Amino acid sequence: MSNFNIAIDGPSGAGKSTLARRLAKRFGMTYVDTGAMYRAIALYMHRLGIDCADREAVIGHLGEVQVTLEYGEEGQRVLLCGQDVSQDIRHHEISECTSKVSVIPEVREYLTEMQRGLAKTKSCIMDGRDIGTVVLPNADLKIFLTASPEDRARRRQKELAQKGEELPFEQVLADIRQRDERDSSRAVAPLRPAQDSVIVDTTGNTLEQSVEQLEEILVKHLGVSPVCG
Ligand code: DC
Repeated sequence: MSNFNIAIDGPSGAGKSTLARRLAKRFGMTYVDTGAMYRAIALYMHRLGIDCADREAVIGHLGEVQVTLEYGEEGQRVLLCGQDVSQDIRHHEISECTSKVSVIPEVREYLTEMQRGLAKTKSCIMDGRDIGTVVLPNADLKIFLTASPEDRARRRQKELAQKGEELPFEQVLADIRQRDERDSSRAVAPLRPAQDSVIVDTTGNTLEQSVEQLEEILVKHLGVSPVCG
């Protein structure tokens, strides 16, 4: 197979980005983190002092936003109008804005086009919420990755702590539940598994166990072999 695409969807904190990054490295593919693209738009609006839930205001400034993904030794870097914002987009506050900005149809159309363009030019593992259902309905393999809300909140709390953001477990769990609800109930491109996706529940798994499980799925469904890592 020359150019092929893998879609990984699922709720926040299911481990999509960590696993997709690992698999991309192992199978010599490009990892495309679509959440980072939504985050970059949210960061732009947030910096302008715009309420991310204010559709008219967001649309009014959408034409100014330039989101670019760059790939180097350390993986994907996200550039916002030429500035590296790979770290800034990860703040808890920006996660909340992103969830609001991502319900706006014009924002989704803008990024969907960009994501399809990327998938055309290279073999990639793309993760998000609507990759298998909307962005790449013809992906060669679709995986829906999930885990219990408690498991996801524990992982997210640990990730935030590593970045110096200490938050109580109950707050992280409540935010995860609220974001799940918003991502799943929105009118455009709601979070749901594509009919032809392979559903993988990582509750209770270690990272290595999940990597192994997904590697087996790739080998079985695509007949590909790991190239490194
Ligand atoms: O995967 P993440 O946590 O970085 O995603 C941040 C937010 O962006 C989350 O609220 C869902 C939204 N998102 C989306 O609506 N569609 C995508 N393809 C990717 C992310």
